[in-house]
Amino acid sequence: MDRIIFATTNEGKMKEIRMILGDLDMEILSLKDAGIHADIVEDGTTFEENAVIKATAIQKIAGGIVLADDSGLEVDYLGGAPGVYSARYMGEDTSYDIKNQAIIDQLADAKGDERSARFVCAIAAAFPDGSVRITRATIEGRIGYEICGDGGFGYDPIFFVPELNKTSAQISAEEKNLISHRGKALRAMKEIIKEYISK
Ligand code: IMP
Repeated sequence: MDRIIFATTNEGKMKEIRMILGDLDMEILSLKDAGIHADIVEDGTTFEENAVIKATAIQKIAGGIVLADDSGLEVDYLGGAPGVYSARYMGEDTSYDIKNQAIIDQLADAKGDERSARFVCAIAAAFPDGSVRITRATIEGRIGYEICGDGGFGYDPIFFVPELNKTSAQISAEEKNLISHRGKALRAMKEIIKEYISK
């Protein structure tokens, strides 16, 4: 069976990714599954740039089809922060309880629409023929007034989805995949991969 490496070590993301790419009939491996230890400097200034940096660097090492995503939370009241720095915000090792509470605290004076935010996801695919493709998607929401829910990962407990009247930590992984930035970008990428492997 052919394999696709998804250049992440984040198990929360891998769970979502496997659910979506599961029907491709290809083995979906994380960096850990593939035994790859690579310290790639994500020094791009956009989600797209970082995704391409990761996918192409790992493709050179591992060969085959390599996907990478770069994602994050943009809070409008904070000028788009933490944005591309979402994972590194307040330090990579700081717990999300602390990061999430810090964001809520900074929005103490923000009401209604002022609390708008979005998750953004860019996915890059680096193919064996040297071509690179990118997909991007977002999900719009609001920063909640308190940490809520224990599903998902990262900033999910403060990302309130108005249509569901819940945070993305209060919905199942299946439900999140249907509406999330990563779910949408990954389904678009799945079509690109299908097209590539059918050539
Ligand atoms: P990266 O894409 O691995 O650089 O990290 C993106 C960071 O953005 C994650 O570590 C989370 O902090 C945050 N993030 C991205 N997508 C999600 C999501 O679906 N839920 C919660 N947090 C997310």
